[in-house]
Amino acid sequence: MISIIGSGKVGSAVGFLCGSFSLDNIVLINRYEKKAIGEALDISNAIPESSSISITGTSDYSKIKDSKVVVVTASSGVHLQSRTEIMYDQAKMIQKIASNIAKYAPDAKILMITNPVDVLVYVIQKEASFSSKNVIGVASNLDSSRFRYLLAQEFGTNQSKIQDAIVMGEHDDTMVPIFSRVKYDGKPVTDLLDDAQISKITLDVRNYWKYLRDYKGHSAFGIAKNTFDIINSIIKDETLDVPASVLLDGQYGLSDVCVGVPLTINKNGVVKIHQIEITQNEKESLSKSADTVKNNIAKVLEFLKN
Ligand SMILES: NC(=O)c1ccc[n+]([C@@H]2O[C@H](COP(=O)([O-])OP(=O)(O)OC[C@H]3O[C@@H](n4cnc5c(N)ncnc54)[C@H](OP(=O)(O)O)[C@@H]3O)[C@@H](O)[C@H]2O)c1
Repeated sequence: MISIIGSGKVGSAVGFLCGSFSLDNIVLINRYEKKAIGEALDISNAIPESSSISITGTSDYSKIKDSKVVVVTASSGVHLQSRTEIMYDQAKMIQKIASNIAKYAPDAKILMITNPVDVLVYVIQKEASFSSKNVIGVASNLDSSRFRYLLAQEFGTNQSKIQDAIVMGEHDDTMVPIFSRVKYDGKPVTDLLDDAQISKITLDVRNYWKYLRDYKGHSAFGIAKNTFDIINSIIKDETLDVPASVLLDGQYGLSDVCVGVPLTINKNGVVKIHQIEITQNEKESLSKSADTVKNNIAKVLEFLKN
């Protein structure tokens, strides 16, 4: 079973993909039950005729019992300038959600979507002492898709010509697009782009969500598909290599912090954290990014104590 907490724009888009691809039974949980019931009724009509899965909406957490995957998309409000803007309210909300997941689905693989995602991966995991291999922050794969798209635009080509575009680090202003590994048609992009182009693309990847905010108010489809791919790998036990946020324990010289790094995922959650080769500059940027997340984690933990 797949449970999705939060039936807003992202939660309903994830539910729609899982339902229309008939992945597994789905439970939608929302603070106000009506919205969850309504989304479930709508998504039910997208389930293929031959499928035996069902989707229900509720505010009752006992219905998530024994879920294989719990996707957290609930949000206590909207951020406008930075994803850390409402982090204290989000952390308080996640604290309650964590206790419900621990009570009803303690062995579930938890996919955190709610922002600030890296901080909240840490909070939810520590709050309920979940195994770190079971808690994954979904964002760096979305950022990597954006990076790939922007590079394709820059070269006037399509995305299939861009290989190994990975973004690491925080899912916010300090994220680190790893230019040193990307190839365009087999050629290193660092041989094809000048410093000004690299700086512009870096800024554009970091600010992509702001362009979306200005055009359509929010982002939903990109994150939904990137989340669906991870759910699919867990439910079907298909190995997936993907950058995502996880608790680090010495990898890249970083500990006790969650940031996006390349992972291998399957039905057992995170089965490998890859330590890929990156340049000294990229390592330093990743380290700064992790420091930013660490500072925010410390502030949130202090707030939650009171
Ligand atoms: N990781 C990423 O890359 C990424 C990408 C896009 C968005 N996001 C994040 O995903 C989150 C959701 O975005 P969205 O656009 O879907 O927001 P949204 O449309 O406002 O939906 C949030 C939903 O959460 C529900 N909710 C609030 N408190 C809850 C609680 N305690 N328990 C259960 N449900 C609760 C709300 O319910 P009611 O309104 O009915 O009260 C609402 O349906 C945000 O934090 C956003 O920043 C992350």
